Amino acid sequence: MASDVVVEALSLKLHGTAAIQADGHLTIGGVDTVALARTYGTPLWVIDERHFRENCRTYRRAFGPGLFPAGAEVVYASKALLTFAVCRLAAQEGLSLDVVSGGELDAAIATGFPLEKVFFHGNNKTPAEIAEALQGGVGRFVIDNLHEIELIEQTCADAGRPEAARRGGKDTRRACVLVRVNPGVEAGNHSYVKTATNDSKFGLSIAAGQALEAVQRVLASPYLELRGLHCHLGSQILEPAPYERAVEILMDFAARVREETGWVPAELSLGGGFGVRYAEGDEPPSASTFAETMARALTAKAAELGLPVPRFIVEPGRAIAATAGWTLYTIGSIKSIPGVRTYAAVDGGMADNPRPALYQARHEACLANRALDKPTSVVTIAGRCCESGDILIRDLPLPDPRPGDILAVSCTGAYNYTMSMNYNRLPRPAMVLVNEGRADIILRRETYADLARLEIVPERLRLRTAGGAAEAARLTE
Ligand code: LLP
Repeated sequence: MASDVVVEALSLKLHGTAAIQADGHLTIGGVDTVALARTYGTPLWVIDERHFRENCRTYRRAFGPGLFPAGAEVVYASKALLTFAVCRLAAQEGLSLDVVSGGELDAAIATGFPLEKVFFHGNNKTPAEIAEALQGGVGRFVIDNLHEIELIEQTCADAGRPEAARRGGKDTRRACVLVRVNPGVEAGNHSYVKTATNDSKFGLSIAAGQALEAVQRVLASPYLELRGLHCHLGSQILEPAPYERAVEILMDFAARVREETGWVPAELSLGGGFGVRYAEGDEPPSASTFAETMARALTAKAAELGLPVPRFIVEPGRAIAATAGWTLYTIGSIKSIPGVRTYAAVDGGMADNPRPALYQARHEACLANRALDKPTSVVTIAGRCCESGDILIRDLPLPDPRPGDILAVSCTGAYNYTMSMNYNRLPRPAMVLVNEGRADIILRRETYADLARLEIVPERLRLRTAGGAAEAARLTE
């Protein structure tokens, strides 16, 4: 069956290489998901390599030099999905990388990601992280607040900059920065993922004057080189209009900065937020629609204000990773409450996908082992955590589920693994990368031993009975 079709009976969109075979099994990347569940166990994250790569290419093509006279750069927001293997995929596809922590930076370093293509974000970077990023030579710091300016300057000063020598003919004395401004634009499908309203913990408000103050401070610094402006509006945005407004507001702000200081931005980043289709009713614009809208606004505003068109930057995370990921679960207990509803419980839930509980996120799913069976019931998929709110999908049409069936939930590539947790001391699932009939494990399943690895029982709490001696020995190993 062709990919990218909606299987009517299931109302499930088969993203990427996902397909239903004649035996009713779901395959991804040419690999039978029922066999995957058997081999690697469940819950299991499955990443469709070809589709992930296609999403990278789609964004690189859409934001190509054709529309943006000064060029454009696609920066993968690694918070959506980051493992070492995924970092390699992003690097191979020529994307730059957005990191927001020492941990994400460490993954970039560990996998040999070109650090000059790394953008370091975050609203509370620690001095240690800043020092590591400076030493590694990250391409850009995206400055979120005035305190950070001082921290970066201090770290540069401690490292002997700007007196430090030129390395390899390149001026390494100054840290290249973008200032993250807050344009006060409402966008995003949930208050938790709106980031650019005036009352936000992120960025420097244009309206309140902090953005201009930050720009002036950076321009006056011997340690910092101001390359441009940045903003990020929110996430899962399903219309291009907010980006158009934001481009206009940022360019107007740039014109004001030029009046005050003479500086003009060489780069303009509009962040990420490009929405995807999770379930029926989500109709995301294509990458090229987003790109065309922004390019039009950018070139028109530049002409109107007499500003040079800056190099353009976008930071898609979800749009690259979400539809490339699936989660396989095994169905266990099934409980029908007469006249109320049927619950089918799976062996994972909010610990591996907190999004439905956090944001009322919706998902589609099918039985991976009986995908061609006609739906005969409407089932609510419950997770196994001790929370009534741990419901993955409400009212899902399914063939009568049986214990042992494999449930495949689509569109779980973004913000699932990276937001997963060990609530109820559940070990995190494994992750496999599938492509052209082969499956490679890219994340080992967590074990109880992994969870126990960091535990320390103080001497005074250890078992003292004879029977406890072996236990005590184990605890001190
Ligand atoms: N750039 C910046 C500065 C960001 O803060 C984010 C996301 C992105 C890019 C990527 O946004 P995307 O293209 O993935 O929408 N956990 C939430 C999403 C939080 C997004 C945080 N920032 C969720 O699961 O919906």
